[in-house]
Amino acid sequence: MEPRHFLDIKDLDSATLRQILDVARGIKRMQKGRRFPLHPRQPLAGRQVGLMFSRPSTRTRISFEVGVRQLGGDAVVLSSQDMQLGRGESIADTARVLSRFVDAIMLRTGNTNALHELARWSTVPVINGLTPNSHPAQIMADIMTYEEHRGPIRGRTFAWAGDGNNVLVSLIEGAVRFGFNLHAATPPDMKPPQEVLDWARNEGGTVEWTADPREAARGADCIVTDTWVSMSDSPTEAASRIARLEAYQVNAALMALAAPDALFMHCLPAHIGEEVTDEVFEGRQSIVFDEAENRLHAQKGILAWALGGAHWTAWGKE
Ligand code: CP
Ligand code: NVA
Repeated sequence: MEPRHFLDIKDLDSATLRQILDVARGIKRMQKGRRFPLHPRQPLAGRQVGLMFSRPSTRTRISFEVGVRQLGGDAVVLSSQDMQLGRGESIADTARVLSRFVDAIMLRTGNTNALHELARWSTVPVINGLTPNSHPAQIMADIMTYEEHRGPIRGRTFAWAGDGNNVLVSLIEGAVRFGFNLHAATPPDMKPPQEVLDWARNEGGTVEWTADPREAARGADCIVTDTWVSMSDSPTEAASRIARLEAYQVNAALMALAAPDALFMHCLPAHIGEEVTDEVFEGRQSIVFDEAENRLHAQKGILAWALGGAHWTAWGKE
């Protein structure tokens, strides 16, 4: 059987994505209030997951490592700089070797092709832990978090104000697969890739792009943003990017245009005073730490789908 790779939200159908979140919710419910074991059946007992990073991480690294252990498995954290990969060993050979040692591989990389090459050669599931082009595990956690606070996301309207980056691409894919509207505002030269917008339209999604953050925010149920300088952006361009994005800051004036009970989300790390003000970040509409926590839970749903075989949905049931 082909391994179940979790590379992008668009690769999975809506029903499977929904089931992943159902399982995640079930596992979270079981975990809350239980000291040990954190999952009664320890579905990852005896399984090893390799977590490979060529870029820094706090949330992704720790939530995957802790999540695997809570399910009874073991995680090996690898820095590609410490591997022969850093000295030129091919991804193809690395994938074939790792597949003999571990049961799944999560990769965070600055090179999107490396993720696809790893998936091509790996005989165990590969999970995207962020590339310059997408961050699907983050958006699964975001959707789970929004629904915990406000109920079904279908038919709701999200606004994005900021850079047209990897997180926005996965949010667009999430909007299409989970059936919510998305109004994305970015400077014209930081627009999300046209093929992503075209894909959303062809799939029947309601994803609109505008250069005007106020237009995007008007009436929205949730405003989302992210850093203005991503890990894949050149540090020499940071100052000019920040200057060009100034008008896209999520502040009280922008939040005031949204629905009165609108929420604020940010994948973190945040840069207060740049993409978001302290007032909004720390304010009553902000759910950023629930969002961070749900990385842990949503990813267990992804692991269940990738590693749980035919009965993977049982992972969410006692
Ligand atoms: N949001 C997120 O992916 O955070 P890290 O970079 O800390 O993993
Ligand atoms: N867009 C950010 C997300 C960090 C989690 C980056 O790629 O650096």
